[in-house]
Amino acid sequence: MTQATHIDEGSVALVTGASSGIGEAVAEALTARGCRVIGAARRVDRLRALAERLGERFHPVALDLTDRDSLDSLLDRLPAGLGEIDILINNAGHGLGGRVGFDRHGADDMAAIIETNVIGLIRLTRLIAPGMVTREKGDIVNVGSIMGIRPYGSSAAYTASKHAVHGFSDCLRIDFAETGLRVIEVLPGLTRTEFARHLSHDGGKDPVKAYDERPSVLSADDVARAVVFALDQPPHVTMAQITVLPSSQG
Ligand SMILES: NC(=O)c1ccc[n+]([C@@H]2O[C@H](COP(=O)([O-])OP(=O)(O)OC[C@H]3O[C@@H](n4cnc5c(N)ncnc54)[C@H](OP(=O)(O)O)[C@@H]3O)[C@@H](O)[C@H]2O)c1
Repeated sequence: MTQATHIDEGSVALVTGASSGIGEAVAEALTARGCRVIGAARRVDRLRALAERLGERFHPVALDLTDRDSLDSLLDRLPAGLGEIDILINNAGHGLGGRVGFDRHGADDMAAIIETNVIGLIRLTRLIAPGMVTREKGDIVNVGSIMGIRPYGSSAAYTASKHAVHGFSDCLRIDFAETGLRVIEVLPGLTRTEFARHLSHDGGKDPVKAYDERPSVLSADDVARAVVFALDQPPHVTMAQITVLPSSQG
């Protein structure tokens, strides 16, 4: 007999960073599986355009992970009937101004990376997880990075942020063992999204053009497939870490 999975028709998923890239692809994959998806990001116009494409299962919500008011009011602003989150996809993140040596990377940009990728992610999880614990059911998917376990250089703050996501995920998994919650970390390699547009190229390679120089690069859909694969496992199986690399990344 097939066991029920956590992606049930009507499951409620909250996807951060749904306005582009991996978050948008995950939102699309989950709505296609019958989930009701709350897509959160700052660019609400992009979320509204996505809602037109994905239909009534997709619900846009404005969220700035670095803004306390935006976070604190989130539960009150969730669409009616969607207050009980079954699946939290902590995907939003950036590497603002990065891919430069540490001494040339702006301090404010580095702080913004930590505030979004680490502090915002932890605050949001703290907001959502208690409800999951009460209901004894929930999946938390943290989108980390290969840079969370392997340093590449010229990205100290981003690498630090993703190491934090890695450690946070490992610890959360232990804290929530025996609660019915699963904590999944997905660690992508180079993925063609808007991510590179926010990077710097002070005399180095243009990060956007760098995609074209690689023999292979992941698409956002490739990463979304890994997320869905992890969620699709039977409840007694946790895909604790899934590293997804372009075959040429090695
Ligand atoms: N692309 C890669 O090569 C790669 C590799 C490994 C890991 N990752 C990780 O994958 C995740 C998604 O990135 P992506 O590649 O899909 O890049 P992307 O296309 O630039 O998407 C980033 C998303 O994060 C959202 N975001 C940024 N700051 C935010 C904030 N303060 N509050 C709320 N949302 C915010 C953006 O939405 P708004 O601007 O509308 O708020 C956007 O939807 C990130 O965590 C990234 O670190 C990417």
